[in-house]
Amino acid sequence: MSLPEKVSVTAVIDNYLDVFEPSTPLVERAVPGKLKGFLLAGHGLAFLVDIDQGESKFSLLMDTGNAFAPLKNNMEALGRTPAEVDALFLSHGHPDHYGGLLGFLEWRGAPLHIYCHPDVFWPKYLMTPRGKVGPWKLEREKIEATGAQLTCATEVKELREGVFLTGEIPRRTSFEGPMPGAKIIKDGEDMDDPLVDEQALVVNLGDKGLVVISGCSHPGIVNTIQYAQEITGNPRVFAVIGGLHLAQVSDEVVSQTINGIKDSGAQLALTGHCTGFRPNTRLSQELGSTFAVSCVGSTATLAA
Ligand SMILES: [Fe+2]
Ligand SMILES: [Fe+2]
Repeated sequence: MSLPEKVSVTAVIDNYLDVFEPSTPLVERAVPGKLKGFLLAGHGLAFLVDIDQGESKFSLLMDTGNAFAPLKNNMEALGRTPAEVDALFLSHGHPDHYGGLLGFLEWRGAPLHIYCHPDVFWPKYLMTPRGKVGPWKLEREKIEATGAQLTCATEVKELREGVFLTGEIPRRTSFEGPMPGAKIIKDGEDMDDPLVDEQALVVNLGDKGLVVISGCSHPGIVNTIQYAQEITGNPRVFAVIGGLHLAQVSDEVVSQTINGIKDSGAQLALTGHCTGFRPNTRLSQELGSTFAVSCVGSTATLAA
């Protein structure tokens, strides 16, 4: 097998839905009248990632949004079936990413391979200015009862040639810090959640560069990009896709993040979910045509 020739990333769930966003050379927007049903925006993220590699095609569902209802609704509207999904990858253990998981597994009705970090199963909660939110717990037993086969790893994993799960992402930049108020209950003990369970999906398109797909970017998107370059040995970056979790950081950190994306040379920054409205507007202003907002039903197609 050789490196993938093409990867298509379809946002099945995202916080944003805007049917008036124009398509771009790299991002095809959903056209409501051509769909099999209506689309729903939902809190969280779910991407269908379709990878073409020689004769073989491989479809990975990355995350499942915060609930099964919008996941099922939107997959059906987009004409996609659960049987098409070859494997599932959970970016991290927050409920806006795993909320639809159990429903999806039951809907699919056949065992599925699931990749995640082992810490996704500890209870987690948030301490916010509006009080405690949670706790939530992803129940491993219920997932395994569906026949799902879990591979939980902390290290980088090459799923197939050129397709990587990063494992734990080293925190190296000076400006990308922990998520304030994030808590984890490990062995009954409450502690700050370092969110080491977040990993990204990286597709290496060779000379075209890397497609870096991140769920919430709790380790920082610039750390994520740099680690993707390190594990693949490919310094080129083609696209950065996903949630950047910038709503609560300072303007200065947003500036440094945007500079990091610019420095990567990415030709597409397709950001949504937890990026935050104001950071997204700044990304739009400062990245120009490189930026596109991630909307439910949009498909980014990146070809080698
Ligand atoms: Fe999230
Ligand atoms: Fe998160």
